[in-house]
Amino acid sequence: MKKLFIVANWKCNKTMGEAEEWLDEVQTDLANLSNLTNLEIVLCVPFTLLPLLSAKVSKLKSLKVKLGAQDVSPFPDGAYTGEISARMLKDLGVEDVMIGHSERRKYFHEDEAMLENKVREAQDAGLRPIFCVRGLMDSVPAGVEIILYEPMTAIGSGQAESAEEVNEVARKLKEKLDDNVVVLYGGSVVPKNVNNFCQEEFIDGVGIGGASLDVEKFLQILNQVQNDNS
Ligand code: PGA
Repeated sequence: MKKLFIVANWKCNKTMGEAEEWLDEVQTDLANLSNLTNLEIVLCVPFTLLPLLSAKVSKLKSLKVKLGAQDVSPFPDGAYTGEISARMLKDLGVEDVMIGHSERRKYFHEDEAMLENKVREAQDAGLRPIFCVRGLMDSVPAGVEIILYEPMTAIGSGQAESAEEVNEVARKLKEKLDDNVVVLYGGSVVPKNVNNFCQEEFIDGVGIGGASLDVEKFLQILNQVQNDNS
């Protein structure tokens, strides 16, 4: 039985009321998963929802649900209007932070130098970066322990990459970086394909975008993983 990671990425979705509704619905069912010690769930939500979730997620701690952000400033506190620093995230109880998602690289022109700074800021503040790569061509900053591999064609398209192909990428990433690096796959992961990925030797879990917004689908994914991994 290997340890598996489920990283939910809500992207730019949900108001406070909607998030509260999602949590209330999910909470009861999560309790049924408490016997699954080998699953780590990270909820990566918009900055605006972090205080609300921080209060709620602490009650779910025994279930290993962690709070994550989707981005962090490449700078420390200071004159950087509009930014959210790693120290501020840490202060809210955030433990993980996604860095370098392809949507940020594409729409906000985040380049390698900036991503390196974000990773350094996160690490200095004691946050764990979940570093996103689009493929083997993307470089990974030093010290990164979790990589989320998300081929751009698979994101939100309903066309997930095959588990065999992903496994090969994961194997190469570990070979290149470190055997102990955690490699996750994201891109159109849904209840019916999640176990294909989780069963592969070099894949340590999944990142879930669209399906994590929907309580029913999210719980189905957790149940699938639980049944297969327990
Ligand atoms: P998706 O998104 O599951 O909706 O394809 C994945 C992601 O971008 O993290």
